[in-house]
Amino acid sequence: MSTSNPQAVTLNVNGVPYPVAIDTSRTLSTVLRNELGLTGTKEGCDDCECGACMVLLDGRPINSCSYLAVQTQGREVTTVEGLASQDDLAPLQRNILAAGGVQCGFCTPGMLMSATALLDENPTPTEEEIRIGLSGNLCRCTGYARILDSVIQTSVEINS
Ligand code: FES
Ligand code: FES
Repeated sequence: MSTSNPQAVTLNVNGVPYPVAIDTSRTLSTVLRNELGLTGTKEGCDDCECGACMVLLDGRPINSCSYLAVQTQGREVTTVEGLASQDDLAPLQRNILAAGGVQCGFCTPGMLMSATALLDENPTPTEEEIRIGLSGNLCRCTGYARILDSVIQTSVEINS
């Protein structure tokens, strides 16, 4: 049964304040996609299993399909749209493309957000640490190796 309980809130996403009136039961992923037009965040399983909906909340990765949008008030949400600058892709984005780590691309935004959080916290992760950092993100296409390579390459660039 759906409820209707709209509340005026301001969501801070990628450094931009978005005033919206939303039902308090709505998830962050649906609000990002349907109210704010930030469709880079994907909805796959809608059950905290696939990681396609991963965003950063105050720099930490969360599954936005399982987080209420109203709970993010006063906090900073970063989505895949917030990674690139106006002129250039982020190094991780460039590297995942160059490594062939994008096929259908459905998992890519979530992968990028988890990898960004990992490298922010640990700029020199081991391969095992990268695997653990990306363990909440499923990819049906690539076999993961090329995605792993792109995170390693980005780590090398960060530290050179
Ligand atoms: S859509 Fe959120 S974890 Fe799958
Ligand atoms: S590239 Fe298709 S699911 Fe990962």
